[in-house]
This record gives sequence, structure tokens and C-alpha cells, in this order.
Amino acid sequence: MTVNEAVPRGEGAPFTPRPVKAGADDPVEVRMTVNGTPTALSLPARVTLADALRDHLGLTGTHVGCEHGVCGMCTVLVDGEAARACLLFAVQLDGADIVTVEGLGRPEALHPLQESFGRHHALQCGFCTPGFLMSSYDLLTNQPDVTEEELPEELSGVICRCTGYRNILTAVDETRRAHPEGVPAPGNCGRTALVGRAGQGADASDGPDETENAASSGTQDIVLPGGDPTIAVRITTGIDLPEDRVWGVLDDIHLLARCLPGAELTDDYGHGHYAGRARVSVGPVKLTFNGVAQILEHDRAAGRLRAIAQGQDTGGAQTQADITLTTEATETGTAMHADAKVYLTGRIAQFGRALAGDVSRRMFEQFADAVTEAAASGQAPSGPVKAPSALSLVFAPLLDRVKRLLRRGGRRRRGGREKER
Ligand code: FES
Ligand code: FES
Repeated sequence: MTVNEAVPRGEGAPFTPRPVKAGADDPVEVRMTVNGTPTALSLPARVTLADALRDHLGLTGTHVGCEHGVCGMCTVLVDGEAARACLLFAVQLDGADIVTVEGLGRPEALHPLQESFGRHHALQCGFCTPGFLMSSYDLLTNQPDVTEEELPEELSGVICRCTGYRNILTAVDETRRAHPEGVPAPGNCGRTALVGRAGQGADASDGPDETENAASSGTQDIVLPGGDPTIAVRITTGIDLPEDRVWGVLDDIHLLARCLPGAELTDDYGHGHYAGRARVSVGPVKLTFNGVAQILEHDRAAGRLRAIAQGQDTGGAQTQADITLTTEATETGTAMHADAKVYLTGRIAQFGRALAGDVSRRMFEQFADAVTEAAASGQAPSGPVKAPSALSLVFAPLLDRVKRLLRRGGRRRRGGREKER
């Protein structure tokens, strides 16, 4: 199978698909920036961009109708230009910048086109809506002086089976009038960077060699998305040991990593950069993330340790986290606070916030328990700290209750013995 080759582009030059020579099922590495997030995938050469977005990155907003370039349902932006995602092989798009309907607006801040489609009832079943939104965004951006009379022809590349054309045209026309200089840019493209690429939103590097070197050595800085995290967790744990003992664990990154549920440290690049792997179960789905972590702050005197991390699984699920551990001395020992902001994208983001929040909370509770055990023994916790499973999440509240009752019973018995003496 041979497809046209990728050609390097200058600023503003149209995207030219790269030529790739590979068997249809041969995996090919491809790196794209999707909705502002750099992604790295290994895909069979036959996978279309539409399937890569839907099946490998979990971005199911891009719909597929005819798969022949006729219906326009699959329209996305490739380097700022509308393109049929069913007609492009993903492996052709190395280095491309893709925007899908998910990148257009946020639920709490929809793009003006989305607002207008809603206001004018420009959707019935909604199947053509992503294609119409991306196509009309492209039209109003590249041709803001388009006239009302020209709209039917200009938008004829997308087919609505529900024949909602009149309302669709009204919605696009209203947006055109409200933004004569061109519509606002997509509002949901995060500023992130993954290892190995300085894409949109990544910190600028001094040159390509340096970027590549930093990427391959894992020392490229991690950039977290702006905006609200998907999940915010704060767990406070009381540890019956002095702060010094707790910092005995926090100072030893390898020991600390052994306390992270389902995680292992695979590389230490120096300068506070690490590579690792983490296994997570969300409901019935098991994911293995490969990623990097960076220690931003390690201040024993101030009782503060801050790290950021990001990982990606082979199915394209991505997670990023900003974690701060703080300690303070208490009458009985140490209070350890774990504050985490977790950002989820791709397949994993489809799970409800509540379930993903439960998993995160449970993981931090297990982490705190493991730190307590390691601080008490001065050694790594006995046995690997397992990531929470669906079953453990269901039974966790029950187990916690039993533990609390046992502790209370133990205190009462001790109290009774004290009185007897
Ligand atoms: S699915 Fe791509 S144009 Fe119809
Ligand atoms: S709203 Fe149903 S296909 Fe257009």
C-alpha cells in the first residue's frame, strides 16, 4: 500500500499528505496535534483519520456516513482547512494540526456557531451537525464576506438527512452577520505537550535538534492544559509518625513511586524528570499508561512536593495531573495533604466524572496508606500497590466502614482495659 508522502510545510502553506510505503496492516508511527493536544499513535497504515479520531482517540464527535467523501459528515480541520476525515489515512498526517468538533467549544462556553445552531433548531437527529459546524466554521473563517445568497451552494458539501437546511442556513447566516471579520477561533483546544514533540501549545525550543534530544531523553518540560481540570481531588491523611519519617519516603523518589497504585518507575533522566508506567481500571476497562513525570518543587523545609505527570495509553486515552503533597506537624504526628488536578482526554474522558473521580480518590487513599506503611517501616510497601478495580470501588465504602468499626471496637476495648487497671 502506498499513499502520498508528507511534505514539510512553511507557515501558512497548505498541508500536503506525506507519502508512506507500508503494508495495509503495518503499524506506522504518527504524531498529530488534535484539538491542541499533541498525540503519538502507532496505527495500521489502512486506518483513516476518521477512524483514528473515533476509535483510537475516543473523539466520536466526528461522524461517518458514506465513507466516500460524499456526505461531508466527517469534516474536520486539517491545518486550518476543512477536510474529509474519511478520505485521509491517519499515517499521512504526521505533524498535522487537527481540529474536530470537540475542539470548537466547551459545554459552558459554546462556539457562536454552536449557540446559533441551538437557537435556530438547526439540528434534528444531529448526525450531520458536526460536519455542518466544521464546514461552516471553515467557510466563515476563510471567506467571511460570503453572502447570504451564496450560503446554500457553499454549504452544499454536507448532506442533512433530516432536511434541516433552512434552519442550518439561518444559523450560519446569523453567525456570519454577527462576526463580519470572521468567527472566533475554536475555544476548546488545550495547551498541552506530550513527550517527543513541541507542537501547538508546547514550550518553544531553541531548535529542532534540541527538541528531539530533549524528547528522546525525556527531559522536555510538560505543559498542562489551561482551564478547569476534569477532576480535582484533595485527600488528607493523618500519619502517626513525625514529619521527618514521612519525608524519608517523600525524599526517595524510587520509594515514593513504589507507593503509587499500579505504577512503576522505568527511567530516571535526572534533573527531576522520570519515565514510568501506570495501570488503571476505570469500571470494566483496563488501561496502561506510559508517560513522564517532572518534579517541579521539592522543599522539605516548607513541607511541599509538587509534581506534574502525563501519560498515554495505546488506545489514545491521555491523562495529565498536577499533584501537590504538603505536610504539617500535628499533635499525633503528621497531616499529609494530597491535592491533585487531573485532566483526561480521549477514550478515558468518556467515563463519567463521578466514576473517574471515585477511581482517583481511591488511588490517592491507597497512595497515602502506602506512604504511611513505608514511613513506618522505612521500606517499600510489602507487595505492589494495586490500582483500584471496579470491584474494589464498589466494596471500598463497605470495607472502610468495617475498618472504622474495628478501630472503634479496638479503642473501646483498650479504654475498658485502662479502666480495669
Ligand atoms: S463520511 Fe466522509 S464524506 Fe461521508
Ligand atoms: S439533523 Fe439529522 S442528518 Fe442533519
